[in-house]
Amino acid sequence: GADAGGANRNAANAAEWKVGAYLSLSGDDTAFGTDSKEGIELAVDEINKGGGPKGKPLKVLYEDDKSKPEEATNKVLQLIDRDGVIAVIGEVASARSRAGGIVANKKKVPMITPSSTHPDVTKDRPFVFRACFTDDVQGRMGARFVVTDLGKKKIALLFASDDLYSSGLATEFREEAKKLGAEIVIEKKFLKKETNFTTYINEIKAASPEIIYAPIYYNAMAPIARQAKAAGVPGSMFMGGDGWDALELVRDAGEEMEGAYFTSHFAPDVPWQNSQDFVAKYKARYGGRNPSAIAAMAYDATRLLGDAIGRAKTDTPEGVRDAIAETKGFQGATGTINIDAERNADKPIVIVQIKDKQFHFHSAVGGQVPP
Ligand code: PHE
Repeated sequence: GADAGGANRNAANAAEWKVGAYLSLSGDDTAFGTDSKEGIELAVDEINKGGGPKGKPLKVLYEDDKSKPEEATNKVLQLIDRDGVIAVIGEVASARSRAGGIVANKKKVPMITPSSTHPDVTKDRPFVFRACFTDDVQGRMGARFVVTDLGKKKIALLFASDDLYSSGLATEFREEAKKLGAEIVIEKKFLKKETNFTTYINEIKAASPEIIYAPIYYNAMAPIARQAKAAGVPGSMFMGGDGWDALELVRDAGEEMEGAYFTSHFAPDVPWQNSQDFVAKYKARYGGRNPSAIAAMAYDATRLLGDAIGRAKTDTPEGVRDAIAETKGFQGATGTINIDAERNADKPIVIVQIKDKQFHFHSAVGGQVPP
């Protein structure tokens, strides 16, 4: 029938709260999936330590979408219809969260993406939420930082035209930069499957921009930084968005990226108490490693969901949906989260700088700054 999972979803009687998570545990964006899983597991341990919401433990069922939107569609369908989950967590990449969110919304099971920022993901989908800001805000703040704070007026754009997040964020940034009186001196688009960026870099160099805005994922930025350095363009010439935020970027191109800034959600040295508590817990559990923004976001989204399940007036997907929608002043590792009427989070944006092959907090803009 339309809701084959309904029989399994009899949450009021079940021994645990079944929650689904679809992640890129393999494929091009594997770091997104593995980091998310670490954040989710840390949150689940904490939630269940006190017995879980309404005294029942949370049980997360993980599915690998192989970094593909089609697989995201399939996995969300399976989690809902086959497994009868009460809510879904995922994804990181906006293209896959949009695909998964279409299914969750149609099935009327709430979904929360920790870190997908493209506006379309939640738009007109009453069952789809996010625990992060959106790219209209991120693009605007990024442009203000470049033009107003750094004083750069001649800007180059470099982005993936076949990626929802990358092209969307480029659009938001371009609009605001122009409004602020900056000039886009050159724009270069590549396709996600490309690996040689030298021609684009040389063309950008010839246009003599003062800065290059590259709203792309870490796995493209690392080879671009290495090829740019070889072509005489230093990493400090680049400015990025949250898609850079995987530790693989500094592992693979830390030296080449020295001095670059990007907008994100978190950095391990964010000066907020909740963030530092999270960093300590994460390090204790994961061999002293620093958490990425993605791990922090997944931790927050999972705790927020656990909190909503505990507050829900009915133990149904609809009840959980309504409780997520009512979330205000939630103290997360990535700041204070207020879910707004469009099901997005109103939060501070963190400007991060790459120094000594590490992500460092520079400043925070917008949102409600936590205690
Ligand atoms: N915001 C990105 C997107 O929507 C995903 C992302 C978040 C990547 C955080 C890295 C870190 O696609």
